[in-house]
Amino acid sequence: MPPADPPTPPWPAADFSRVPFDLFTSAEQYAREQSRIFRGPVWNYLCLETELPNAGDFVRTWVGDLSVLVSRADDGSIHAFENSCAHRGAQLTSKLRGNTRRHTCAYHLWSYSLTGDLLGVPMEKGVNGKGGMPPDFDKRNHGLNRLRVTTFGGLVFGTLSNDTPPIEDYIGPHAVEQIQRLLVQRKPKVLGYLRQRIPGNWKLYNENVRDPYHGSLLHLFQVSFRLQQPTMRGGIKMDADLKNTWNHSIVTEEDAGNRKTLSDAYAGTGKFAPEMRMADPSLTQVPLDLGDGYKTTILSIFPTLVVAQVDNTYAIRHLRPKGPDLVELHITYLGFESDTPEMTQNKLLTSNFIGPAGYISLEDGEALRLVQQGIRTRRPGQHEMLEMGGVGDIRDTDYLSQEISIRGFWSFYHRIMEEA
Ligand code: FES
Ligand SMILES: [Fe+2]
Repeated sequence: MPPADPPTPPWPAADFSRVPFDLFTSAEQYAREQSRIFRGPVWNYLCLETELPNAGDFVRTWVGDLSVLVSRADDGSIHAFENSCAHRGAQLTSKLRGNTRRHTCAYHLWSYSLTGDLLGVPMEKGVNGKGGMPPDFDKRNHGLNRLRVTTFGGLVFGTLSNDTPPIEDYIGPHAVEQIQRLLVQRKPKVLGYLRQRIPGNWKLYNENVRDPYHGSLLHLFQVSFRLQQPTMRGGIKMDADLKNTWNHSIVTEEDAGNRKTLSDAYAGTGKFAPEMRMADPSLTQVPLDLGDGYKTTILSIFPTLVVAQVDNTYAIRHLRPKGPDLVELHITYLGFESDTPEMTQNKLLTSNFIGPAGYISLEDGEALRLVQQGIRTRRPGQHEMLEMGGVGDIRDTDYLSQEISIRGFWSFYHRIMEEA
């Protein structure tokens, strides 16, 4: 389908196959994104319900630049509010997570309930009959700034806009189906967290994760060790807004054998080394939990959420922008309540694909750094080009060497930045 809203300058092409480099480097653009996207009509991923099992549990997270607390109240409901005191704005907590009966500000000890209501103001009535707050001061008017919260499949989302559509409409039918498959049919449990600081713009990561073209090139080790093949079946499907992508690949018997085709495909690159072997191949021999053939399933949900199964590694990736040229990638690794100890051990082992030992995420981070470095000195009016897989209409594909869903991301980005 064509983009809903054809672009105006500075976009040089109506099909979003040209993206101005300024969008990745401009501090003004970054500030506009905070108000138009992150505080606009989007559902921002906050955390997992399973991270808040008990009343009083809280998690600190980020909505763009905004520090947010997510809190479980006594009746089981989940609330989210800005991590900033209603009095003079102090940060309420710097803890990443914890359990509390009240959220109390360190500065003047104003305290808030688990739902963000102001409960206590020391010396509200003054001391010895003197001072205190004015007679018309009403604590009900001074709660924390709340976000509207919703959940889907154990994921908790928040929005600061009244115009954000219902969550199922927002994520689209493919995400609904895949979240059921990945997070609902078995109860997830958190295995651990990773934070990776990447010296690149947050939108470069959105491009990267919608770009299966690079999968067998930047991550060539996957091809050498037979984890991925460019010949594999798969494709992409988008939601109606083109902002969210489900990209998937499928294992077939013939993929394993076809080394001759591969050698031809990489001819002249000097990179493909089919004779290379891992000294310890156990990492690559972990069986897939689900017998449905999907080798990878990557859901990219605008603006900052990725839900991914890569081989047998299950993870939530969350982008936390820290300026035009820095983004923190926060990864939550998942296992499942029903996993045996051996299955858990296997998941810890394969977390190294997208984890602390590097492999895939190390390479993606480096690719983003190279782009950010490379475009720093490009001149105004210059742009990247996205033509792999076809130009013109932005549509689903049944092949993986494509950049079409990146154009989908940009068409929605353009729309939301213009509509605001
Ligand atoms: S700034 Fe929080 S109580 Fe004063
Ligand atoms: Fe990658």
